Amino acid sequence: MSISADIGVTGLAVMGRNLARNFARHGYRVAVHNRTPARTTALVDEFGHEGTLVAAETTKDMVASLARPRRLVIMVKAGEPTDAVIAEFAPLMEEGDLIIDGGNAHFADTRRRERELRKQGIHFVGVGISGGEEGALHGPSIMPGGSAESYTALGPMLESVAAKASDGTPCTTHVGADGAGHFVKMVHNGIEYADMQLIAEAYHLLREVAGYSPAQIADIFRTWNEGRLDSYLMEVSAEVLAHTDPATGAPFVDVVTDQAEQKGTGRWTVQTAMDLGVPVSGIAEAVFARSLSGHAGLRAAAADLSGPSPKPLTSGAEQFAAQVEQALYASKVVSYAQGWNMIQAGSAEYGWDIGLGDVAAIWRAGCIIRAVFLDRIRDAYTADPTLPTLLVDDGFAASIGQAQDDWRDVVATATRRGVPTPGFAAALSYYDALRAGRLPAALTQAQRDFFGAHTYRRVDREGVFHTLWGGDRTEVTAG
Ligand code: 6PG
Repeated sequence: MSISADIGVTGLAVMGRNLARNFARHGYRVAVHNRTPARTTALVDEFGHEGTLVAAETTKDMVASLARPRRLVIMVKAGEPTDAVIAEFAPLMEEGDLIIDGGNAHFADTRRRERELRKQGIHFVGVGISGGEEGALHGPSIMPGGSAESYTALGPMLESVAAKASDGTPCTTHVGADGAGHFVKMVHNGIEYADMQLIAEAYHLLREVAGYSPAQIADIFRTWNEGRLDSYLMEVSAEVLAHTDPATGAPFVDVVTDQAEQKGTGRWTVQTAMDLGVPVSGIAEAVFARSLSGHAGLRAAAADLSGPSPKPLTSGAEQFAAQVEQALYASKVVSYAQGWNMIQAGSAEYGWDIGLGDVAAIWRAGCIIRAVFLDRIRDAYTADPTLPTLLVDDGFAASIGQAQDDWRDVVATATRRGVPTPGFAAALSYYDALRAGRLPAALTQAQRDFFGAHTYRRVDREGVFHTLWGGDRTEVTAG
């Protein structure tokens, strides 16, 4: 009889392979399976010395090798490939078993799968896993959804293989029921896009306005990475900016085409935010900036349009860099605040009761947006779980108060000099709109009523009204 494995991993591309190794290194007996058996054999041959890796040639062998309740992790492409693997394994599983999807699935798919498999008594657990290949091997941030019962069976194992924050706590927790884990992972990726866009805009300003070289900007980013902007993405940005292309000797960033791609999780975040009615302008501008960069033909056609060509400052570069740091931090706070508002909205919409401080806590290590900054977010929501937005947390409000003159100067300078900063500008406009006493939306309502009789409310009394624009313009009660 084959060894009874504690957990099984099917889908042995790099993420799946590294996750299996991570479990094995932590003393678990891991059954491994791949559609191409040669990949299974190769994994056991190469890394079997790290722990107990049990090769399963077929789906039947895989299921037979798992101790009850069976824990089967699927690590294949999101969408149809995941449905296909579920269809293969589910008929062989029994009540109380777990099928765990560690891919970047859309949370709506996870909710559907969880609903369907629940009829068979199987726990379907959508798990967001962040940290890339290195994270999967050495400790990712893990965001499991699914039933509370499934977390009882799976949680301790995830806690042992997850990244650990500086205070030693594992970067995983039961995020909420059904698709909550994949929802939060999706928002993580949306915030990742916004963060990357803001750093890119800071780089662009330091290059085009302050006139620094990539190597000099790498040094500036390394300095910022010692302070409140300390983050994995800041560290990565400094590394790639310091890198010289071996083939040409030019700065590496100058030989990379300036057309950003995207697998789609950032786009999903914005689409879902539209459905939930949550303004995530920082994430949206990041997605659109990637899309715009990819429209080579459109950009070529627009290349000769009139406008200022960015030219470096003749003095004050250092002072400008300090202003950019302020603008970057303030814009980052806004984008993260928007991301958390989205988590709040999703949690309310789907009844997940997500711990907002818990999410910050499990993102402190292992994931792509890991940063010191997340400690502050965790503390803010621990102090007040009902915080309507991070922007009104005393600490963040004070930071933005100190930053905003520089923030406004940087956006104004960028605008005057023709340097696109959609993320910085969107964050500043969001901030100003949120705190505005009156918004021009009143005119929007009046326009809608004029051409579409869509009605409006008044500031001075209850009710819904319509003005007879085509007649004597008297106002009637509409509802
Ligand atoms: C992570 C990453 C990962 C994502 C890559 C590529 O959390 O480990 O976010 O999930 O797939 O970053 O994403 P894009 O191609 O959308 O940039």
